Amino acid sequence: MFDNVDISSPLTLPCGATLKNRIAKGAMTEGLGDSLNRATEGHARLYRRWAEGGAGMLLTGNVQIDRRCMERPGNVAIDGPQSNEAIAALRNYAKAGTVNDTHLWMQISHAGRQTPASVNKEPLAPSATPLAMPGGQFGTPRAMTGAEIENVIRRFAFAATVARDTGFTGIQVHGAHGYLISEFLSPDVNVRTDEWGGSLENRARLLLEVVRAIRAAVGADFPISVKLNSADFQRGGFSHEDAIRVAAWLNAEGLDLLEISGGTYEQPRLVGLDDMTLHPEKSETRKESTIAREAYFLEYAKDIRAAVTMPLMVTGGFRTLAGMNAALKSGTIDVVGLARPLCVDPAIPAMLLSGAAQATPAYEKTLRIGPGILGPHSRFNLVKAMNGWGQQGWFCLQLLRMGEGKDPDPKMGVFSAFRNYAKNEAKTAAALQRQ
Ligand SMILES: Cc1cc2nc3c(=O)[nH]c(=O)nc-3n(C[C@H](O)[C@H](O)[C@H](O)COP(=O)(O)O)c2cc1C
Repeated sequence: MFDNVDISSPLTLPCGATLKNRIAKGAMTEGLGDSLNRATEGHARLYRRWAEGGAGMLLTGNVQIDRRCMERPGNVAIDGPQSNEAIAALRNYAKAGTVNDTHLWMQISHAGRQTPASVNKEPLAPSATPLAMPGGQFGTPRAMTGAEIENVIRRFAFAATVARDTGFTGIQVHGAHGYLISEFLSPDVNVRTDEWGGSLENRARLLLEVVRAIRAAVGADFPISVKLNSADFQRGGFSHEDAIRVAAWLNAEGLDLLEISGGTYEQPRLVGLDDMTLHPEKSETRKESTIAREAYFLEYAKDIRAAVTMPLMVTGGFRTLAGMNAALKSGTIDVVGLARPLCVDPAIPAMLLSGAAQATPAYEKTLRIGPGILGPHSRFNLVKAMNGWGQQGWFCLQLLRMGEGKDPDPKMGVFSAFRNYAKNEAKTAAALQRQ
């Protein structure tokens, strides 16, 4: 039935919008916001380059609905009336990212307890459950009041409206990776006893209310997507069975695209890494068949496919043309998500679509601060964490380079990336504090 589908096939979404092909760029935080957390010319440069690179749809890095709880000091935040300058910068960004008939969807988020201490030492979260990670980078969160939760729903709807009005062609709610909505979904993090905690119905209430409020605000013909974990991979956390049920509820809301990912800062499975916690005994292992797979959440997507009819996207590990087309032809997914390869080769979608390339770059396979026990799967927590942040910094610095109009630098060292990324973040955080 899906034999004729491949990465070049257009896709019409439930709301009526059409993506010109099946490759989407996964959301990647850019750190290009200015000290007032507005979009900049750097965003326009970066997204024009990606739009010219051939993907059917680009997801922006997470844009924050509350500047007190950002994922990073250089995020864009839309959390109140926008100045003329802020609106102009967003319009400029949207115009650049939609050239070449490309869809540009804004990912909107609230970082919850994963807000770094450099942004806020006491961020808001469902409960006062701190992250169990080494390094003291995150403060202990404060449990939100019912009024604060209602306020978050309104903020998501507001940011979505600003996205639509400034020329973005869709939005995605970040419901994955251990940020606020994902924290509400997790019984390990969310220990509330009111209507926002306890049963899965209660834990999913925030996500569903956010989706409903956004639909009411943006209308029936504007694409709405959610990024959801296939599981948190943490014992006692949001399970795969939970994910299947939540996906079915989102399907009933008329969602346009569900993107499937997995993991949190404690369990960074989204980028293929494992346990970073102080409690390794709580880490859940992945199925062997999943580890062997190129796209590591595909097995989980199959179970979700069986429960829903809405379009599905998987991001994480896709690197070969054959693997992408096989996943589409199997009918499990409708859109292939690619993230890290586009940090190094922004035009790789066009190369895959024309057949000029059979695979994407896979730099993550070789990026490490040292061999053997010093690699990313080291049993030493600190080494593992340095590898994790070093890799992340390496990809982030490539985005900053493109934002400055430079080419990516594949020869960049991981250790220097670790150091330079930390320096850059400290500088951005200091600029934020001065405001
Ligand atoms: C530098 C970097 C920044 C990221 N930022 C975000 C983000 O803002 N929002 C999000 O949902 N995922 C984010 N991710 C995760 C990616 O969207 C994607 O799920 C992950 O990289 C796996 O896909 P890949 O194997 O194609 O890279 C980020 C990943 C990287 C490497």
